[in-house]
Amino acid sequence: MKTRKYDGTNKQVPQIGFGGWQLGNADHWGDMDFEEGVDLVREAYRKGVRLFDTAPNYAGGMSEAIIGEALKDVRDDVVINTKIGHRADGGIDFSLEAIETSVRNSLKRLSTDYLDSVILHNPGLEILSGDDHFAELDRLKRLGMINAYGVSIDTHEEFEMALNHTGCDVVEIMFNIFFQDVSPLFERAKKQDVAVIVKVPLDSGWLTGKYDAQSTFTGIRSRWDKDTIERRAALVERVKKITEKDDLTTTALAFILGFDGVTAVIPGIRNEQHLDVNLQAADKELPDTMRERLIKLYREEIKDEPLPW
Ligand SMILES: NC(=O)c1ccc[n+]([C@@H]2O[C@H](COP(=O)([O-])OP(=O)(O)OC[C@H]3O[C@@H](n4cnc5c(N)ncnc54)[C@H](OP(=O)(O)O)[C@@H]3O)[C@@H](O)[C@H]2O)c1
Repeated sequence: MKTRKYDGTNKQVPQIGFGGWQLGNADHWGDMDFEEGVDLVREAYRKGVRLFDTAPNYAGGMSEAIIGEALKDVRDDVVINTKIGHRADGGIDFSLEAIETSVRNSLKRLSTDYLDSVILHNPGLEILSGDDHFAELDRLKRLGMINAYGVSIDTHEEFEMALNHTGCDVVEIMFNIFFQDVSPLFERAKKQDVAVIVKVPLDSGWLTGKYDAQSTFTGIRSRWDKDTIERRAALVERVKKITEKDDLTTTALAFILGFDGVTAVIPGIRNEQHLDVNLQAADKELPDTMRERLIKLYREEIKDEPLPW
C-alpha cells in the first residue's frame, strides 16, 4: 500500500485507514461485542492498516478500549487518532479545562501513554477562529501526551479557517463523490504540511451500491427521510452508469485517493469482508475520464443543492 507522512509525527501511514465509530457500537451501527471488535482491529493490523480513528463517545468509550486492547503490543507501529469535545458519557464539553482530562481519559481507555494525534470533534467557528484551544493543545504536546493535533470538520469554510488560523497538523474532513466542496483545499493543506484524513468516504455506506430507494435504516442513519433516501438512491444509479462494471466501493475510495493532498481515508468497517474489499482500493487508479465524469456529476447535480449528511 502507498504510504504518506502523518504530519506532526515521525510516522508514515498506508492510505487505507480504519474508521472506529462502528466498533462495539450496537446503538448506532449494529451489534459487535468487545472480542469481535478486538479481532477485527487485529486483523486490520495484520493486513497492513496502521491508522486508526476513534473518539471518546464512540460506543461510550468502547471503541477506544477495543483499539487499545487490540494494538497494545504494536503501539509504536500504529497511528491512533482520537478526539476531544464529545465525552464517553454522551456529554459535550469543549471547555479549555476539559481538554487535558479528556486526553488523560482517552490514554487510559487506549492503554497507551501518548496519542499520535488528538482532534477537536466538530468545534464551532468561534473555537476555530480563536487561539486558546490550540495553545492548550500545544501545551499537551510539550508535555509529551500528544504528538500532533487538529480538528474534525465538515465544510469548506471550516477547512479554510483551520488552514488560515490554527497550527493544526491534522484535518479530518468529510469528503466523497457526493461531498466534493472541499477538494480545492487539499493541495494547500499538503503545502502547509497538514495531514488530511477523509471521513465518511462511502457516504455512510451508500457508495458501496448496496442500498436502494426501498432501503430502511436504524441507528445513526435513521436521520434520513424518504426523500433523502430516494435522492441518494437515484444518485447512486447515476454513479453506477459512470463506473459501469467497476466495483463501486473501491472506485469510491480510489476516487478520493486520487487527490494528491489526501493523506488517508478511514472507511467505517464492521467486518472482515468490508476490510478486505476496502484494502483493494489501495492500489487502484481511476481513468481520468471516469474521474472527470464523477466531478461533473457533483458539480451539475449536487453542488447547488447539497445532500444532508
Ligand atoms: N465528526 C467526526 O469526526 C466523524 C463523523 C463521521 C465519521 N467519522 C469517522 O469516519 C469513519 C468513517 O465514516 P462513517 O463510518 O460514518 O461512513 P463510511 O465510512 O462512509 O460508511 C461506513 C459504512 O459503509 C459500509 N461499508 C464499509 N465498507 C464496506 C464494504 N467494503 N462493503 C460494504 N459495505 C461497506 C458499512 O455499512 P453497513 O453498516 O450498512 O454494513 C459501514 O458501516 C467513522 O468510522 C469515524 O471513525 C468521524
